[in-house]
Amino acid sequence: MATAVLGLQWGDEGKGKITHLLAREAGMVVRFNGGPNAGHTVIDRGVKFGTHLVPAGVFYPNTVNVLAGGTVIDMEVLHEEVEAISEHVGRRPELLIAENAHLILPYHRLLEELEGSGAHFGTTRRGIAPTYRDKAAKVGIRAGDLRRPDVLATRIERRLDQLKRQWPASEEVGRLDAGTLAEELVTLADPFIGSIGDATGAIAEALREKRNVLFEGAQGTLLDVDHGTYPYVTSSSTTYAGLGNSIGIPEPAITQRLGVVKAYQTRVGAGPFPTELEDETGVGFRERGGEYGVTTGRPRRCGWLDLVALRYAVELNGVTDIALTKIDVLTGLDEIKICRAFEVEGEALDRYPLSGDVLEKCEPIYEAMSGWSESFDGVESLRDLPDAAAAYVAAIEEGVGVPVEIVSVGPEPEATIYRGL
Ligand code: GDP
Ligand code: IMO
Ligand code: MG
Repeated sequence: MATAVLGLQWGDEGKGKITHLLAREAGMVVRFNGGPNAGHTVIDRGVKFGTHLVPAGVFYPNTVNVLAGGTVIDMEVLHEEVEAISEHVGRRPELLIAENAHLILPYHRLLEELEGSGAHFGTTRRGIAPTYRDKAAKVGIRAGDLRRPDVLATRIERRLDQLKRQWPASEEVGRLDAGTLAEELVTLADPFIGSIGDATGAIAEALREKRNVLFEGAQGTLLDVDHGTYPYVTSSSTTYAGLGNSIGIPEPAITQRLGVVKAYQTRVGAGPFPTELEDETGVGFRERGGEYGVTTGRPRRCGWLDLVALRYAVELNGVTDIALTKIDVLTGLDEIKICRAFEVEGEALDRYPLSGDVLEKCEPIYEAMSGWSESFDGVESLRDLPDAAAAYVAAIEEGVGVPVEIVSVGPEPEATIYRGL
């Protein structure tokens, strides 16, 4: 069976934990979008990792880990990550890097700073937008180019020529040298050269053979470049529609599209956030939930769960079921609010607005629900949840029209409750 794990909010929903749990049964795990802007927390045999590029299958033997064509790869990050994980698991993980995946070069990170977009949007400053921009402008460098160092150097040189003309006053740009960059890249990529290949073919074969294939989404639906809260988004397709394009298979046989939803809302970086809490309740979420970015360490903005956004995300991804995470963070609150609709200039709105200008003006309409104080220790089936927690789960299911199959009540793999019989 093939499953896609998709974030339904602004990222950091707990995709890492859920993917790591499901990857135990998978023969192949595929990252299909984004790059090292992602930070997925995995606790593997008691050791905590924040993965940025490698799919969660690296923690298990006999699992092929694919970086698909729609991803952008920073070889330096990949190198560090693979070293750390190899040491932990005692072997080198099996990787397959799509030859058409684009590479992040040092000048992509530099451009984000020079243009001020890192600061303006509060990006992860990993060079994501400049790399996807180069891809669309046909001046990008692809993983497959690493196998042809002469072509690689020529392509870098051509791009540097452009940059030097665009940034004549920048000393940092002036110092960039194509030969040196190409050489450094080839050295860094050396251990991975044998892993670069035809990812589309390998994924198609695994799906044809009905192997257990897991797709690990990065970021979240509201950060999708087309369907998110533009321009406060990332630069890739984070949703299910983008998955097919990234892997090069138009209708992959993926029967389960598991949406990961945090029991409240968070966002890192700039952009509208109608249910944001700038009071002690929001601070409480941040402290109890450890809401600090895995990639940048920035405090995450926190707020109540937004069902209007969630309905939109469920629809956009064709979500079949939900994994609800971090419900334990809500324990101890007298009252929990859930946003059912928006009001804009006196008019009720129950569809998520595509325009950021409208979203800025949305006032959430809340339903107040009872909180709970019981702990989740020993709860093994959703049937045994405290009544108020069960009512919260039911309100989400009813609000979005798909079942919650998994409830996560702590960062560790064991702290997971399944629907049960
Ligand atoms: P991802 O980017 O979607 O993988 O999520 P992150 O790893 O960036 O952020 C999720 C954070 O919540 C991490 O620190 C996880 O260890 C933690 N986490 C995941 N699930 C739970 C949960 O059910 N309860 C609590 N308290 N923490 C969780
Ligand atoms: P995971 O996979 C949360 C946010 C950044 C910024 C915007 C654009 O861990 O859920 P970028 O560097 O991508 O150009 O930044 O997107 N962002 C994320 N926020 N989780 C992520 O990934 C994110 N990846 C990017 O904070 O607001
Ligand atoms: Mg994250």
